[in-house]
Amino acid sequence: MFRCPPALCFLYTLLATAPVYVASQQTAVERIASAYGLTTSTTFPFPSATQSSTDTEALLVGQWSLGKGRVQDSPGNLAFVSDPFPNKPAPSSSKANSTGPVLQATYNAGSFGSADSGSQWYNLWNTTDGSTFQTMVVSYEVAFDEGFDWVKGGKLPGLRGGLNSTGCSGGHASNGKDCFSTRLMWRKNGAGEIYAYIPTPNNLCSQEGINCNSDFGISVQRGSFGFVSGQWNRITLLVRLNDPPNVANGNVQLYFNDFKAVDQQNLQIRSSSSVTANGFYFSTFFGGSDDSWATPNTVHTFYRNIRLWGGSAPSNLTGQVVSAAGRTATFGLGTQLLGLALGGVMTALWL
Ligand SMILES: *[C@@H]1O[C@H](CO)[C@@H](O)[C@H](O)[C@H]1NC(C)=O
Ligand SMILES: *[C@@H]1O[C@H](CO)[C@@H](O)[C@H](O)[C@H]1NC(C)=O
Ligand SMILES: *[C@@H]1O[C@H](CO)[C@@H](O)[C@H](O)[C@H]1NC(C)=O
Ligand SMILES: *[C@@H]1O[C@H](CO)[C@@H](O)[C@H](O)[C@H]1NC(C)=O
Repeated sequence: MFRCPPALCFLYTLLATAPVYVASQQTAVERIASAYGLTTSTTFPFPSATQSSTDTEALLVGQWSLGKGRVQDSPGNLAFVSDPFPNKPAPSSSKANSTGPVLQATYNAGSFGSADSGSQWYNLWNTTDGSTFQTMVVSYEVAFDEGFDWVKGGKLPGLRGGLNSTGCSGGHASNGKDCFSTRLMWRKNGAGEIYAYIPTPNNLCSQEGINCNSDFGISVQRGSFGFVSGQWNRITLLVRLNDPPNVANGNVQLYFNDFKAVDQQNLQIRSSSSVTANGFYFSTFFGGSDDSWATPNTVHTFYRNIRLWGGSAPSNLTGQVVSAAGRTATFGLGTQLLGLALGGVMTALWL
């Protein structure tokens, strides 16, 4: 067996393994899509020349299959502009298409919330044969102005499911029956997370890496990756719906610059099989819903290479049946006392 001189071992190991390590740990989106049988895909068409806000809105309405056929909030904050960072690609193995204009979202000084900061719309990716998607991936690149002031945080695009266009965002908690949303957020100093409006049964809120807020979405693995301003960052978000709907075997995964940053399991993303993955949820703004989240300056984010993959197989992971804990109303006090008594016996046996 080869033995290295102790003083040089570290260097040797680094040289020998670093390139292999990088190559094997980075996962291009095509490989993720193939691993989950996502055989259908689509690429959002970008224009070949920059466009005014008005022409940008017309292009989105005409070509991006928007829910309700419109940009829900602040179309005036969107425009196709020249790529501000053509020579600052995401540090990842995937090839980026870096030609042509990119989509810019503007956040005006003093603005926060979806009504006047950034923009919001959702895409309904309809299949031609009427089949539904039980697993979906969105991949896109995002850039922030050089020196971007993150303030307290803001929303970034992700995926949406179910046809209730007002539920599962904006403080309308999910009941699992008609929608879900899985967006991203940046937080202070650019810390990244998945921000989801989904049910929270089986004590999900007490699990490591999960922060719940009674009125809003849940934060999944905050700080597991970090956005960098002044360059492109590649996002790949995978959502595998739980199946059947009363088993919490749903899964969300986030790859940042093609490295896996989040793999959250045991999720009940929906409680009804009528909720399926419907498409890209472009939702970006500072906030939060009060002015402590507002941006002091007018700033921008940029988007390019937006692609979706979909498949008809839901999650096949094992998961717990959704417990009574999330549905206390359906069980009487007697049942709870029995549960406590049984719990005591179990604990005694375990000890
Ligand atoms: C679950 O699905 C994955 C991805 O499609 C597949 O590779 C794996 O074999 C499946 N596992 C089981 C137990 O069916
Ligand atoms: C890159 O994007 C441009 C503009 O959207 C498009 O015309 C071109 O086909 C793309 N190239 C590749 C390699 O995807
Ligand atoms: C896509 O499907 C949704 C839900 O069934 C429907 O409301 C919408 O009109 C469809 N859009 C197109 C362009 O077919
Ligand atoms: C959609 O969601 C909103 C907000 O949660 C709710 O008030 C409304 O009743 C839902 N609409 C339907 C048709 O269920």
